[in-house]
Formats: sequence, C-alpha cells, structure tokens
Amino acid sequence: MRAAVIDEYGGPEQLQVREVEDPRVGPDYVLVRVHAASLNPVDYKIVAGNLDAAFPVVWPLIPGWDVAGEVIGTGPAVRHVEVGQPVYGYARKDLVGTGSWAEQVALPARAVAPAPADLDPVAASCLPLAGMTAWQALVEDLEVGRGDTLLIHAATGGVGHLATQIALARGARVIGTCSEPNHDFLRELGGEPVSYGEGLAERVREVAPDGVDAVADFAGGGALDASDEVLGTPERVVSILDPQAAKERGGTYVFVRPDVDHLAALAELADAGQLMPHVQSVHDLEAVRDAVEEASGGKVRGKVVLRVP
Ligand SMILES: NC(=O)c1ccc[n+]([C@@H]2O[C@H](COP(=O)([O-])OP(=O)(O)OC[C@H]3O[C@@H](n4cnc5c(N)ncnc54)[C@H](OP(=O)(O)O)[C@@H]3O)[C@@H](O)[C@H]2O)c1
Repeated sequence: MRAAVIDEYGGPEQLQVREVEDPRVGPDYVLVRVHAASLNPVDYKIVAGNLDAAFPVVWPLIPGWDVAGEVIGTGPAVRHVEVGQPVYGYARKDLVGTGSWAEQVALPARAVAPAPADLDPVAASCLPLAGMTAWQALVEDLEVGRGDTLLIHAATGGVGHLATQIALARGARVIGTCSEPNHDFLRELGGEPVSYGEGLAERVREVAPDGVDAVADFAGGGALDASDEVLGTPERVVSILDPQAAKERGGTYVFVRPDVDHLAALAELADAGQLMPHVQSVHDLEAVRDAVEEASGGKVRGKVVLRVP
C-alpha cells in the first residue's frame, strides 16, 4: 500500500509517500481502507521527534491517529463491526508508527466504531481524537450540564470547537477564548468569544459578572492561572496540556483514550445535528507535507484533513 512515512525525525520535509508493507491484522483488530485522516498536533509532534521519550516507535514510521473509512477485514474476535461497514476510529497503539496516513490501517477493536451516518469521511475523521478528548474532559470529568457556565481556553481549535458544541448540546453556556479573527466563528457555533492574553479575567467578568462554574484548558501555557479568579470552585478544572496545574487545583488531566462508547456518543450527537466538525482544508495524501505545514502553524480553525483517494 501507499503511505506517508518518515525514516527519521524532523520537519514536514521528512515525509515521503511511498509503497510500504500492508498492515497485519491481529485476532482483535479491524483492517480499514482509509478514506480520510484528520491531523492532530500530536502527529506533527511525533514527526518532529518531540514525543520520543514518551512513545516507543517502529521505523519507517507512518504517523496518524484519526481515521474514517471502510472495514475491509476483521480478526476472528471482532464482533461489533463487519466488512463493508463505514467506520471511524482513533488509531493509537502501544507502538507508534503504523498509523492512518496510509491507504490502510489496522486498529484494535476497542478503537473503532460505526461512523456517524450523516457525515462524509472527511468530516467523520475529525471526530475521534479531538472529539473524545472533549467528551472525556467535559462529560466524564467536569460533568458539564444545564445551568453551567463553562470557560473553554482555545475554543476554536480542533478540540475546542468540538468541545464548544458538546457543552452547548448538554445545555451549558460557553465562553471561549480565541483570537479576534475567530470571534465570529465561535459566535456561529453558539459560544461567546473573549480574546486570550493579559486582562482575560476582566473580559470574562464583562460577559459573566458572577464568574464561571468550570474551566476546560485546551491551550496550556498558564491558561488556568489566567482564569483562577473567575472560577468559583477551584477544583472544577480540566486540562489536556498541564497535568500539574490541573492537579494542584484538585482538577484532572485528560490523556485521550480510545472508547467505543464515546465514539458512539459522538456519532449520535453528529447524527442529531448537534456536532458538526469544521474543516479548514483538505489535502490529498500525496500533499501530506503541505497539510503538516498548515496544521503546525498553531492557527487552525477546526481541523485540517488528509484525503486518501
Ligand atoms: N492530552 C490529550 O489527550 C490531548 C488531546 C488532544 C490535543 N491535545 C493537545 O492540546 C492542544 C490543542 O489541540 P488542538 O487539536 O485543539 O490544537 P489546534 O487545532 O492546533 O488548535 C490550536 C488553537 O489554539 C488556539 N490558541 C493558541 N494560543 C492560544 C492561547 N494562548 N489561548 C487560547 N487559545 C490559543 C488557536 O486559536 P487562535 O487561532 O484563535 O489563536 C487555535 O485555534 C495541542 O497542544 C494538542 O497536542 C492533548
């Protein structure tokens, strides 16, 4: 099959699209013909070698943790999906390097679920990693619901724009930080934008004089410090970037894990019209370097996606 691979760590120029061995399919694995794979910051952090201390890798390394496509094979222990079915999933495995930026990927059964019926593969591929991160942070940890005012740091990126929609679907009010060019985008999603940076607490007070009930940090870099004074209950915080800052407040750190039930919950929201990924751009697999160049600029609105023709 063809895949985007790196033979050594570095910038986007290390990526080559070439023929590699087809994936092996273990007894509880699902083989997927990839139609689309959205990019996440972890992908280009892996390409750069920034996560070498955290994850063991195999070479040549195929990046990519998100996938939407069609089942073309199953191991004998797989029961919940079948050949021919449109699926989506989160292809993180214990060894990094047999990822989704390829024509085929093999995923553990626990990481793949039927795709949302109403989304095309490009849109569906935006949901697994970022959507489950948002779900695990907001629903499992913060238990966000009706009557809550939630502050989201980085509300218009891959995780943030999905978290905003999930919180709104659960009846919460969302105040979100983003830069000025993204304010209208956040309003269209139903959130209330405030610019990040110095003076954040005052700007939040202008729209929520009584402060907020919970804070989700998808930005890091001291974001929780900037919102401490507007949060009534210090422990109702979650961060996906800063474990220490979250834990010293009595809150939680999320490292997204594959969960079939969470994929099903996201698909249900999408099919109910309450969760729609925003796709900033789509690149063919052959143009993977352009996709990584664009996504790693730190200014993504929604998601950048690779399409695998
Ligand atoms: N722990 C986990 O399981 C987990 C899971 C997913 C992601 N992450 C990490 O979480 C981070 C966000 O992921 P993502 O996929 O949402 O990234 P992304 O799509 O690249 O989004 C980046 C967003 O951050 C915003 N931003 C930049 N600086 C900001 C600041 N100081 N305050 C508030 N917003 C700021 C940008 O908005 P503007 O363009 O408006 O500036 C942009 O929309 C990444 O570092 C990623 O590696 C961790």
